[in-house]
Amino acid sequence: MAKTTKNSRGGASRQPKRRYTKKGADRYELYQLAVQSAEHDVKLVSRIYRRLRGREPVGLREDFCGTAQLSAEWVKLGEQRWAEGYDLDPEPLSWGRKHNLDPLGAAGSRVVLHQDDVRARSRRRPDVRLAQNFSWWYLKERAELLDYLQRVRRELADDGIFCMDIYGGLEAPEEMVERRKIDAGFTYIWEQERYLPGDAEYRCHISFEFKDGTKLKRAFTYDWRLWTMAEAKDVLRDAGFSEVQSWFEGTDHSTKELSGSGIYYPDAKGRLGRDCAGWLAYLVALK
Ligand SMILES: C[S@@+](CC[C@H](N)C(=O)[O-])C[C@H]1O[C@@H](n2cnc3c(N)ncnc32)[C@H](O)[C@@H]1O
Repeated sequence: MAKTTKNSRGGASRQPKRRYTKKGADRYELYQLAVQSAEHDVKLVSRIYRRLRGREPVGLREDFCGTAQLSAEWVKLGEQRWAEGYDLDPEPLSWGRKHNLDPLGAAGSRVVLHQDDVRARSRRRPDVRLAQNFSWWYLKERAELLDYLQRVRRELADDGIFCMDIYGGLEAPEEMVERRKIDAGFTYIWEQERYLPGDAEYRCHISFEFKDGTKLKRAFTYDWRLWTMAEAKDVLRDAGFSEVQSWFEGTDHSTKELSGSGIYYPDAKGRLGRDCAGWLAYLVALK
């Protein structure tokens, strides 16, 4: 059984070790270290775009962008590249400007962040639009999700694509806690506190625990709906996308505890996710 840690692709190993503790902890820094692998993700969606459209993508819109780490990685990949990020919360946006964009100098100025709803109009039409780390699960009603996706499709470049990630599997609706040691020197804790099957209400938290025994409890909380892939594909098609693909992560068989390989393959039926305790996938929708 392939097994994946939810809400975490974790690209932490690049960071030098230092002493993390609750005092002075920066939850956005910890989140980026434990959860995001932005460099890998932008390369992946660029590869998907090249394969589908036969050229290099230039413009990105990052929805639910938080600290805009993906946008920052995107513009590093070429001088033509630009990005726009949208998030309601000013706090991660200003953290991201300071820690992810300003250090890039001129390249950072090719990213424009908007404190706005993901349903707000694009200023520029992107080749790739992204909703990452399951954030589209904030949209709980079908009508709400459909409205968002219709806007997404309308505002894409003519040959644009939309990518959103999703996880599922036997463990997805389980009320459970999963711990993972992060190379940088702390423990990441993913908690699925509550899942209610009637309307798929899904409440999850991220906590961090440090080597000195201190803890940043429920540093992030998510009130989501646990959508299934088949439901989401239906809504994407209803939104008018010409084609909807699913790309599933392969399994790394090199260790005893099977884990995701980080490599994604087109897989309409989701055979790669079959029998998995937890699988990760991208939904890719073509305008
Ligand atoms: C899980 S974080 C995702 C951060 C980042 N995209 C990532 O990949 O890790 C979710 C973000 O979505 C934002 N958010 C939630 N609902 C939103 C909405 N309707 N419009 C814009 N941003 C929203 C929150 O403020 C939060 O920063």
